[in-house]
Amino acid sequence: MSSKKPLLQARSITRSFGQVQALRGASFDVYEGEIVALIGDNGAGKSTLVKCLSGADRPDGGEVLLEGKPVSITSPTHAQSLGIETVYQDLSLAPDLDPAANLFLGRELLKPGLGWLGVLDNSRMQSEARAAFRELGTELLSFTAPVASLSGGQKQNVAVARSIAWASKVVFMDEPTAALGVVQREKVLDVIRRVRDKGISVVLISHNMPEVIAVADRVEVLRLGQRVARFEAQQSTVEDLVAAMTGALIQEDVA
Ligand SMILES: Nc1ncnc2c1ncn2[C@@H]1O[C@H](COP(=O)(O)OP(=O)(O)OP(=O)(O)O)[C@@H](O)[C@H]1O
Ligand SMILES: [Mg+2]
Repeated sequence: MSSKKPLLQARSITRSFGQVQALRGASFDVYEGEIVALIGDNGAGKSTLVKCLSGADRPDGGEVLLEGKPVSITSPTHAQSLGIETVYQDLSLAPDLDPAANLFLGRELLKPGLGWLGVLDNSRMQSEARAAFRELGTELLSFTAPVASLSGGQKQNVAVARSIAWASKVVFMDEPTAALGVVQREKVLDVIRRVRDKGISVVLISHNMPEVIAVADRVEVLRLGQRVARFEAQQSTVEDLVAAMTGALIQEDVA
């Protein structure tokens, strides 16, 4: 497989919700500087696995390794301090705040020299946020309107911009292009490639198989809460991926 070093690894993760076993010993690998797609049918456990790796949920069992060392990721803030950012499927933006305030949520810039009392440096946050959105190719009609007033695709762009602005090691993107039109989708895919080229790994969850093959370096397939297949994206077809997702294609020794 890859000659790159493993960055983040899930080993035999279990997670149940009452009677539902969402993860049944799921393993997953993210290598340095790659785009890896995490695919699987609805309910396969993708979002649950991402939540367990980004501190939003805690596994019942199994192990997570960061750069080869076991870690217990206790919260999203803890994950962020380890260089791990996430765009959640439900976006988790603050609807009453404007895009710039969302970009800096919890990491607000303060004006220098005012000590712990601190005054928000709104103009610097606005200009840095605009630069981040420009890099993403996002055109927002208003930078000062609350996020609640944006379209679904624009909200998604705000969430993507926020994650890539802060990530230093890994960005998880749970269906970042699902609500986007064709043009915006291509822009987000370009951004994902640029993030990878900066040396940051991207985990892309997507149901769009042509998109997965076009943008990912590798693909890992989850089915019924377990890893069932791994592919080099360039050497796989949409048919291979669908066959693995539905259980028609079985690879040995990947769980
Ligand atoms: N908080 C929760 N409470 C109860 N059940 C949950 C919870 N989160 C996930 N599940 C269940 O765990 C299973 C896996 O869900 P998950 O959201 O991880 O799937 P997914 O692969 O992300 O699916 P999709 O492609 O539809 O987003 C599902 O059966 C789901 O109903
Ligand atoms: Mg999901």
